Amino acid sequence: MTDITLHEVGPRDGLQNEPGVISVADKVAFINALSAAGLHELEVGSFVSPKWVPQMAGTADVLAALPAGPNYAVLVPNMRGWDGFQAATKQGAYAISIFVSATEGFSRANLNCTISESLERLKPVVAAAADAGVPVRGYISCVTDCPFDGQTSPAAVAKVAEDLRQIAPMPLSLGDTIGKGTPDRVAAMLRAVLDVAPADQLAGHFHDTSGQALDNISTSLETGLRAFDSAAGGLGGCPYAPGAPGNVATESVVAMLHDRGYSTGVDTAKLEAATAIARKLKEDRS
Ligand code: HMG
Ligand code: MG
Repeated sequence: MTDITLHEVGPRDGLQNEPGVISVADKVAFINALSAAGLHELEVGSFVSPKWVPQMAGTADVLAALPAGPNYAVLVPNMRGWDGFQAATKQGAYAISIFVSATEGFSRANLNCTISESLERLKPVVAAAADAGVPVRGYISCVTDCPFDGQTSPAAVAKVAEDLRQIAPMPLSLGDTIGKGTPDRVAAMLRAVLDVAPADQLAGHFHDTSGQALDNISTSLETGLRAFDSAAGGLGGCPYAPGAPGNVATESVVAMLHDRGYSTGVDTAKLEAATAIARKLKEDRS
């Protein structure tokens, strides 16, 4: 049991934004290095449309090549994605992440539907996961800012959080998708969400576009959150969120947390090996 749970999203949120095809072998080597470093909550791919996100097209092959042990999760946007997930893995062996936006502009760009349509689309996915005993995590995007709609109101985030948790009481990851959030606005957003979900059900998912991700994590820690998403090497971004480069780097988050006396279970020397792979994957494409 560690003080903080880190969800490593480099192989998904990171690699989905890299141009060109990354081989299954490279993805698997990266994921295995991350889990060897002590990162056991790993988001490793997506069962989304390959026309929308071609970088995640090999997710079934990645899952087939991974060793048992860590908690692997994949993004699933609809029943078609659920079917792909089920075909690719043994029932119950992995978790899924579903994702909705707090703003209509990003919902349309990322999922081609309204927020309310996306919630309806996810209900059968959550029901199928419950039947199969598969854990579900819910992402809410654009929790402080949207690339299309401007600043997001805390009430809008709380409303989507409540709607998701009415479908099922799942843990939520709160995404500052374009990394424009400031500590004050993150705190206001968290206060609103804490009215509808307890802190131990919330994770912070910060992109570092404006260099404020670590400050936003500090604010989240003060507010009671103990789970964070990050990507080794600061890989990342969302192809449908203009201006959303790197996720906060796992190595920076781990260094800050260890410096403050929090345990993470991460071996920093082994993390450096995983980070080197992330950097190389990025360099190979630049
Ligand atoms: P659509 O075009 O409205 O869907 O896209 P559709 O149902 O009309 O289907 C269109 C085509 O896609 C059809 O194929 C479907 O079969 C196929 P066609 O008949 O044209 O040959 N299709 C699929 N194929 C594979 N897997 C599927 C699937 N579904 C449909 N699951 C859709 C709707 C949701 C599919 C699309 O919008 C999509 O895939 N969006 C995903 C975008 C994405 O992955 N974005 C990045 C992840 S979100 C993120 O990064 C934010 C996050 O990190 C948190 C944060 O930072 O805020 C999580
Ligand atoms: Mg993200």
